[in-house]
Amino acid sequence: MADYILAIDQGTTSTRAMVFDHSGKVVSTGQLEHEQIFPRAGWVEHDPEEIWRNTREVIGQALSRADITRHDIAAVGITNQRETTVVWEKATGKPVYNAIVWQDTRTQAIVDRFAKDGGVERFKQTVGLPLSTYFAGTKIVWILENVDGAREKAEAGELMFGTTDTWVLWNLTGGTDGGVHVTDVTNASRTLFMDLRTQTWDQSILDVFGVPASMLPEIKSSSEVYGTVESSSLLREVPIAGILGDQQAATFGQVAFEPGEAKNTYGTGNFLIFPTGTEIVHSDNGLLTTMAYRLGDGEAHYAMEGSIAVTGSLIQWLRDNLGLISSAPDVERLAATVEDNGGAYFVPAFSGLFAPYWRSEARGALVGLTRFVNKGHIARAALEATAFQSKEVMDAVDADTGNPLKELKVDGGMVANDMLMQFQADILGVPVVRPVVAETTALGAAYAAGLAVGFWKDFDDLRKNWQEDKRWEPSMDDEERERQYRLWKKAVTKTFDWVD
Ligand code: G3P
Repeated sequence: MADYILAIDQGTTSTRAMVFDHSGKVVSTGQLEHEQIFPRAGWVEHDPEEIWRNTREVIGQALSRADITRHDIAAVGITNQRETTVVWEKATGKPVYNAIVWQDTRTQAIVDRFAKDGGVERFKQTVGLPLSTYFAGTKIVWILENVDGAREKAEAGELMFGTTDTWVLWNLTGGTDGGVHVTDVTNASRTLFMDLRTQTWDQSILDVFGVPASMLPEIKSSSEVYGTVESSSLLREVPIAGILGDQQAATFGQVAFEPGEAKNTYGTGNFLIFPTGTEIVHSDNGLLTTMAYRLGDGEAHYAMEGSIAVTGSLIQWLRDNLGLISSAPDVERLAATVEDNGGAYFVPAFSGLFAPYWRSEARGALVGLTRFVNKGHIARAALEATAFQSKEVMDAVDADTGNPLKELKVDGGMVANDMLMQFQADILGVPVVRPVVAETTALGAAYAAGLAVGFWKDFDDLRKNWQEDKRWEPSMDDEERERQYRLWKKAVTKTFDWVD
């Protein structure tokens, strides 16, 4: 057996290829950012062809940096930004439109139209999700209704839809020359179209949305051989054997397989996932119900999820839109120039508010300003926004389960930020724990692929790889925590009903 697994992480801001060894250590990484396209306020797009070019290139980077070839790779796993929607022509492989990104809010009118009959929760019992601009379903409808000729072509069976796992997989396996049109249960559970119990497309919902089933990928498990890499690739003939949406992949990489083993990932947004085992649990507190994973013919595993749209992307916004910092890590230095937030609270409702509010009409607000507030306070308020939003979804998990979390496993880019992690522990009132391999998203995809080809034997094999790196203990007193959280909650209300 070859010595490594290669994971492709097709994320919101970049695409990465990472090579892992049997102990779960990162051996090498290739990474390229892609353009974020903002054609109008509220619209966010990516170029699918750029993403595919970058995927090929980062695979080359990762292999050459590790000085290995395809013969050293036992299998490939794919993980991806979820919900981001690509529609392309079967015959040419050309996208009919840019990818519409999960953060994009253009489909609000479509959401309102479908919600008229039965409200935003009309499909929730079946699919686990409220109607929202966030999910892929409304984005497909937008393309069918707004791109010239798309509906006719879709009805003639000439178009394919995929989230970016499917787009990358189809291209990796040959594209127009026999590409495999498949997704996994976790990604399918973010469309609004998949029945959580059967893990199949629900024809009655497709009829409501007017989406032809012929354009949808086949739904497979998260861990099985879907196909092999096409012959012009550096990875030719290597099996592709794992797919997990990035948040489910991070949960897998944190070996949080069982009920109660929650994790919080700090990426472009934050996503707290709380596995519920083989039981489908519907939240009363604004969490989503989603697939956690299914391995081959095994049982389906579910989770509750607290999705937060804007956390890391707020720091990018300080960098790109305000020029307040020149690189994302600088935010910690700027925030450290002051002792606290100076009374400022920043609610980054740039894509409306996701969990636990699901208010798409909300827009961002920076409140509590006085002449005293300087850019250090704003940097601090931006960092604190990530922690406060995570506290809100953790409170929702605690309320739903009646069994408060005793600690929180964290991962993702922002967990390198010491100030944020300490504040997170302070505001949660429970310890925050980071593993040695904080790149759990790519690791989770590698695990799913490795299990399918026997590179790893079972969950126990994977659990042995998890090691604690650092733990932050809460040190804020209760009264101060409550005061700050009360002000945060007040700030959130200032973002509501921001409609003309
Ligand atoms: O649901 C969106 C999520 O999958 C995107 O994750 O890590 O790119 O912020 P990330």
